[in-house]
Amino acid sequence: MARARGSPCPPLPPGRMSWPHGALLFLWLFSPPLGAGGGGVALTLAAGGGSPPATSCPAACSCSNQASRVICTRRELAEVPASIPVNTRYLNLQENGIQVIRTDTFKHLRHLEILQLSKNLLRKIEVGAFNGLPSLNTLELFDNRLTTVPTQAFEYLSKLRELWLRNNPIESIPSYAFNRVPSLRRLDLGELKRLEYISEAAFEGLVNLRYLNLGMCNLKDIPNLTALVRLEELELSGNRLDLIRPGSFQGLTSLRKLWLMHAQVATIERNAFDDLKSLEELNLSHNNLMSLPHDLFTPLHRLERVHLNHNPWHCNCDVLWLSWWLKETVPSNTTCCARCHAPAGLKGRYIGELDQSHFTCYAPVIVEPPTDLNVTEGMAAELKCRTGTSMTSVNWLTPNGTLMTHGSYRVRISVLHDGTLNFTNVTVQDTGQYTCMVTNSAGNTTASATLNVSAVDPVAAGGAS
Ligand SMILES: *[C@@H]1O[C@H](CO)[C@@H](O)[C@H](O)[C@H]1NC(C)=O
Ligand SMILES: *[C@@H]1O[C@H](CO)[C@@H](O)[C@H](O)[C@H]1NC(C)=O
Ligand SMILES: *[C@@H]1O[C@H](CO)[C@@H](O)[C@H](O)[C@H]1NC(C)=O
Ligand SMILES: *[C@@H]1O[C@H](CO)[C@@H](O)[C@H](O)[C@H]1NC(C)=O
Ligand SMILES: *[C@@H]1O[C@H](CO)[C@@H](O)[C@H](O)[C@H]1NC(C)=O
Ligand SMILES: *[C@@H]1O[C@H](CO)[C@@H](O)[C@H](O)[C@H]1NC(C)=O
Ligand SMILES: *[C@@H]1O[C@H](CO)[C@@H](O)[C@H](O)[C@H]1NC(C)=O
Ligand SMILES: *[C@@H]1O[C@H](CO)[C@@H](O)[C@H](O)[C@H]1NC(C)=O
Ligand SMILES: *[C@@H]1O[C@H](CO)[C@@H](O)[C@H](O)[C@H]1NC(C)=O
Repeated sequence: MARARGSPCPPLPPGRMSWPHGALLFLWLFSPPLGAGGGGVALTLAAGGGSPPATSCPAACSCSNQASRVICTRRELAEVPASIPVNTRYLNLQENGIQVIRTDTFKHLRHLEILQLSKNLLRKIEVGAFNGLPSLNTLELFDNRLTTVPTQAFEYLSKLRELWLRNNPIESIPSYAFNRVPSLRRLDLGELKRLEYISEAAFEGLVNLRYLNLGMCNLKDIPNLTALVRLEELELSGNRLDLIRPGSFQGLTSLRKLWLMHAQVATIERNAFDDLKSLEELNLSHNNLMSLPHDLFTPLHRLERVHLNHNPWHCNCDVLWLSWWLKETVPSNTTCCARCHAPAGLKGRYIGELDQSHFTCYAPVIVEPPTDLNVTEGMAAELKCRTGTSMTSVNWLTPNGTLMTHGSYRVRISVLHDGTLNFTNVTVQDTGQYTCMVTNSAGNTTASATLNVSAVDPVAAGGAS
């Protein structure tokens, strides 16, 4: 599925996967390698072994286009054949029994662009295994037995654009795992079913990455993706995410498509998607969502395709904003089609068809409003703003007019999920009135308090020492 969605393959060579044998032979006969006649070709094929000239075809393989296309699939190979022609641009070793790739195996293949090693028994890729491949742009290693990312082997692959590692029993992705291949644009790490750990710095250096697949990896949390500043497509389906927090997508301002299907998502916190300014498509189908926080999609100005079907939507006032948003943004109603699961009276109705007449809604109630505080600089402080439901949106207006939301990345002052404005270390400049504004589809409610920060008395401080 993820492959099908991929960008088109590089122009060379045509027909990557399987050509009928007749066609191969035909091409082979009509474009013999340099320095060898038609008869010589047939002889090399039949004889094999020995030490054939660099442009002849290895016995186990079939070659075409002057040996720039070398195909050795399903030949029960236990090793990479020796003497692959030096002008090979495309080498297919898929579906064999190769277990180890040794240092310098492909060293002479300066023109190799595509190397397919998937569906083997690869368990080890030695340091330097891909030495001397300055033209390689696609490396396929999927469906193998690798337990680690062969980071050390990626040295000098300065043109690598696609790396396929899906369906390997990889257990962890360490820091800087792909740091040596900053040219990567597509990285497939799907179906790593043994994956237990992803380092905070795992994706560091991948500044050109456009597509990342982390689907079906048993992820319980979204890893740190901040380094992926150019990421456009992110596949996270088939994981066990449960909770999505603001900050999970920090820095992903180029992301256009986010797939989160069948991911057991039950809660999406306020402002969780705020960073995704370029998002166009969001697939949240087949999850455990009952509601979404008010105005969750409001900062996503480019969002036009949302899949919300197969979630147990609870249709009450909290879902009304979504109904309005759908009507305004997806008037065609074909892609969204979220249906109410509860209450019984609305079960089966499309969310996009609901309106205010179905409910009686009230403006939010602030259960625990902030109170005035006198504190000394350097202290911690908290201004509460707790509401009856976490499906409202909460904004704090600070004395200088700055608006803060949950997930605003400030070290010293932050808005917590329950609405609290948390100061870790107040300064005298923080003094002033703070207003919390809570909004739902029926209106908004505000509450204010004054924070009074006094300077540490230098005399008292000095006298104490
Ligand atoms: C996430 O990665 C970014 C840079 O890639 C780094 O600055 C940040 O500290 C990381 N976050 C955590 C929690 O480690
Ligand atoms: C998103 O989900 C919908 C509904 O489940 C599905 O039809 C659609 O193909 C999904 N989109 C993608 C890009 O997979
Ligand atoms: C929305 O789509 C459903 C099924 O595709 C259709 O039955 C319904 O009439 C549509 N609603 C509107 C308002 O177009
Ligand atoms: C803060 O200090 C002033 C002056 O000492 C006092 O009037 C006020 O009651 C104090 N406020 C609180 C919340 O303690
Ligand atoms: C609070 O901030 C001040 C100035 O930025 C700093 O000197 C002090 O060490 C900080 N205190 C704490 C507890 O972090
Ligand atoms: C809130 O601030 C306190 C210090 O006052 C800090 O220890 C705590 O980690 C902060 N809470 C969060 C969730 O950031
Ligand atoms: C405004 O106030 C916030 C919070 O008190 C602070 O983080 C921010 O730096 C201030 N901005 C300016 C421009 O003073
Ligand atoms: C809050 O409500 C008032 C009046 O009910 C309205 O004028 C204002 O635009 C609302 N503000 C927000 C942020 O919804
Ligand atoms: C702020 O606190 C200081 C020290 O407690 C007090 O003298 C001052 O009156 C307070 N100001 C207000 C407005 O509460």
